[in-house]
Amino acid sequence: MERTLVLLKPDCVQRRLMGRVLTRFEDKGLNVIAMKMLQVTPELAKQHYAEHVEKPFYSGLEAFITASPILAMVLEGLDVIQVVRNMLGATSGLKADAGTIRGDFSSSRQMNLVHASDGPESATREIDLYFETGEVLAYEPTLTPWFKAADE
Ligand code: PPS
Repeated sequence: MERTLVLLKPDCVQRRLMGRVLTRFEDKGLNVIAMKMLQVTPELAKQHYAEHVEKPFYSGLEAFITASPILAMVLEGLDVIQVVRNMLGATSGLKADAGTIRGDFSSSRQMNLVHASDGPESATREIDLYFETGEVLAYEPTLTPWFKAADE
């Protein structure tokens, strides 16, 4: 089982799309094992987007991600990092395939609704940035045998 950090960004919260996006993850059979709303500070934004801080678009990205509350969550599942990235679609909503979350709901590169970790190292780093150990609640969903075979 793998874990990934997912953020429903300010545009997702403001556009009242949280429920529809969360439903997609639940329908897929992914486990929500942590969740909270928070206001991203400029300091947290700089830590989260450390690799982008020097890029020309960073000031706009920071202004956007700190403008309004977000919903942060940890999802767990088989190959969940890649599964969620595939569900989101390309970074820009203008390029994301129809049927993906961004392809269906976003027409922007910045306002692309959802962030998800792009690999195992960033998932560990990002989960630790947003959640204390005790806030991540691993449990065995009773429906697991109906979502995957025992040897998967
Ligand atoms: S991705 O999906 O993480 O691989 O995308 P990436 O191209 O690496 O971009 C990282 C985040 O920066 C945002 N971004 C931008 N914002 C505003 N303007 C421009 N030009 C721009 N380019 C990239 C993009 O939305 C990504 O945000 P996250 O939260 O990681 O999805």
